[in-house]
Amino acid sequence: MSESAIQAKRRPSAAVSAASNDMPNLKGKTALVFGVASDTSIAWAIAQELAAQGAEIILAYQFRYHSRIKDLAPKLPNLVAYDRCDVAKDEEMQAFFGKLKQPIDVVVHSIAFAPAATFETPLVDVTDQDFATALTVSSFSLAKIMRYAAPHMQNGGSVVTLTYLGGQRVCSNYKVMGVAKAALEAYVRELAFELGPKNIRVNAISAGPIKTLAASGIKDFDYILDYHKSVAPLRENITTGDVADCAAFLASDKAKMITGQTIFVDAGYSIVGVPQLG
Ligand SMILES: NC(=O)c1ccc[n+]([C@@H]2O[C@H](COP(=O)([O-])OP(=O)(O)OC[C@H]3O[C@@H](n4cnc5c(N)ncnc54)[C@H](O)[C@@H]3O)[C@@H](O)[C@H]2O)c1
Repeated sequence: MSESAIQAKRRPSAAVSAASNDMPNLKGKTALVFGVASDTSIAWAIAQELAAQGAEIILAYQFRYHSRIKDLAPKLPNLVAYDRCDVAKDEEMQAFFGKLKQPIDVVVHSIAFAPAATFETPLVDVTDQDFATALTVSSFSLAKIMRYAAPHMQNGGSVVTLTYLGGQRVCSNYKVMGVAKAALEAYVRELAFELGPKNIRVNAISAGPIKTLAASGIKDFDYILDYHKSVAPLRENITTGDVADCAAFLASDKAKMITGQTIFVDAGYSIVGVPQLG
């Protein structure tokens, strides 16, 4: 068998996986997806996969990406609505959730931001304001969203957020975002504990590096991609589709006993201590 044939076997496309009877089915569920900024966004791949598996989709996006979203959103087969919702602006969150009338089953939180200065200055010099911005948008926003979303989840549901290895280990150039991801993963556990009695599950996917708008803020990202590929046991970089497949599983009832976890979708990179030498 050729190498490409092996890869084709290991990597069914989202369309193929949605067609398979063995895959999770999200028919009858409504998913609220935060974090689409472009067609390279992880949230966009997740929205597409959830829709392919039958979920109805509501997109919440940052207004600065409005012109892109108004072109992209209608491409989703089961789109219910799309509306602006900046998680750093309480009035936008209240307006967004005030308009939400239908029950929600799935929340996808695929949001992160830290001011550019935090990637350029030593950690000890990060200002109070920049730290607050990074943590508010990248970590606290998960709890804030759930403050408004949980009342719409009377039948329980699934919350999926996106994290990175930098929340558990030092990844060069990630800096204060590593602190924010550590806080986000702690929120996943705390919220899973608090919301579990309402049958709301909360999990994180720790994705390997993928070239997206957010990733373009990380210095030497192309080097990180090459290194990741050479060290990861599966010797591949992951795609947004790989993350979407995991998110669809976590969103489905097939994951009904999984909560409070951070699950790595990283071709195994995170298990390696000493990479293959030579
Ligand atoms: N790309 C990677 O290598 C990678 C790896 C692991 C985890 N992640 C995480 O995946 C998530 C999605 O990032 P991405 O790589 O798809 O990049 P992206 O730039 O496409 O998505 C980031 C999203 O965050 C949103 N956002 C930022 N500030 C916001 C605010 N105040 N209110 C509402 N939304 C806001 C942006 O609008 C954007 O849609 C992030 O949490 C990121 O840290 C990315």
